[in-house]
Amino acid sequence: MKMAKIDLKALKNRAENEIETAKDLKELNKIFKKYLGKKSQLTEVLRSLEKLPKAKKVKIGQEANQLKNFLKIKFAEIAQEIKEKVRKEVEEKEWIDITAPGKKPALGHLHPLTQVKRKTEEIFQAMGFSVVEGPEVETEWYNFDALNIPKDHPARDLWDTFYLKNGLLLRTHTTPVDIRNMEKNQPPLRIIIPGRIFRHEATDASHETNFYQVDGLMVGKDISVANFKATIQEFFQRFFEKPVEIRMRPGYFPFTEPSFEVDMTCLNCNGKGCPACSQSGWMEIVGAGMVHPAVFKNSGLNPRNWQGWAFGMGLDRLAMMKYKINDIRLFYSGDLRFLEQF
Ligand code: DAH
Repeated sequence: MKMAKIDLKALKNRAENEIETAKDLKELNKIFKKYLGKKSQLTEVLRSLEKLPKAKKVKIGQEANQLKNFLKIKFAEIAQEIKEKVRKEVEEKEWIDITAPGKKPALGHLHPLTQVKRKTEEIFQAMGFSVVEGPEVETEWYNFDALNIPKDHPARDLWDTFYLKNGLLLRTHTTPVDIRNMEKNQPPLRIIIPGRIFRHEATDASHETNFYQVDGLMVGKDISVANFKATIQEFFQRFFEKPVEIRMRPGYFPFTEPSFEVDMTCLNCNGKGCPACSQSGWMEIVGAGMVHPAVFKNSGLNPRNWQGWAFGMGLDRLAMMKYKINDIRLFYSGDLRFLEQF
C-alpha cells in the first residue's frame, strides 16, 4: 500500500529542517502548504487512515497526528521568531540618536573686502569716528570743482574718469563725501567714508576699474598733522595687529595743503620687493593732508575758523596687505577657489 511507504520520521526531519531555515514569512507559508496543506503527504496519510486495518490505523493515526501538531507548533514558533527579527531590524534602521550632533549646513561668508571694510569701520568707530556714505554717481562739482580741481586744471588727469551721458560721472574717489558732509554738519567732525569708486584705467596686478576706498576727515579748532599721524598709526596697529612701519613723504593733492603720501612696509614681502609693491618694499597706502582753505570755503566753512586733516586709502590694498594677495583682480574674479579661503 502506498501509505505504508511514507516515512513519517524522515518527513518530520525534512519539514523541521526547512521550517527552521525559512528566511521570511512568505517562504514559511510555502513550507506550511507543502507539509500541512490539503495536498501534502501528511494530509493524505490522515485522509486515507480509514482504509487501513484497525491496528495500523491507530498507530499511524497517532503518529501522523502527533507530527501534525508538532509541525503546527513549530510553524508558530518560527513565525514568531521571524516576526521578532523583522521588528528588530526595522527598529535598528529607524533608530534616531537624538544626542548626535546635527549636520552643519554649508554657510557662505563675507567677501574679504567686506570683512576689511567692517574691521576698518570698527576701529575708527572705537576712536570716535562716525561712518558715513555718499553717492557712487556724482556731479563734477563734488568730485572735482569743490575739491579745488577746476575743469582745465591738469590735476584732473590724476583721475581717469568714467563720464555718463547725462553730465554726471562715476566718482573717482570717496573724497567728494567730505564736502557733502561739511556742507551739512558744523565741525567738530570726525568721519570716515568707505565706498566703491571707479577709474577709467587699464587693469593690472595693482589696478582695477572698480575698487574701494575709505576717506577720513577730522575738522576742529586745533587739528594738526601730528593728530593725523597718531590716528593713522593707531589704525594700522589695530588693523594688522602688530607694529607697522610708516613713512610720510611730501605729496600733492589739490584739496590738501600741505599734502603727503603715507607708505607702510609691504607686508606681502616684508619690505623685500614683490609685484604688489612694484618691487619697492613699500606700499603706498594713504594719501593725506591738511584740508585746503578753498575746500572749506566750497563747503560753506570759514577757513579762518577751522582746520583739519583728511586722508584717503584703498581698502583693496589693505586687504592685499592683510591677506598677502598680490593681484587686486582676484577680489573681483568671483573665483570660489580664491574666496573660500577667507
Ligand atoms: N582722493 C585721493 C585719491 O583718490 C586720496 C586722498 C588724498 C583723499 C588726500 C584725501 C586726502 O581725503 O586728503 O587718490
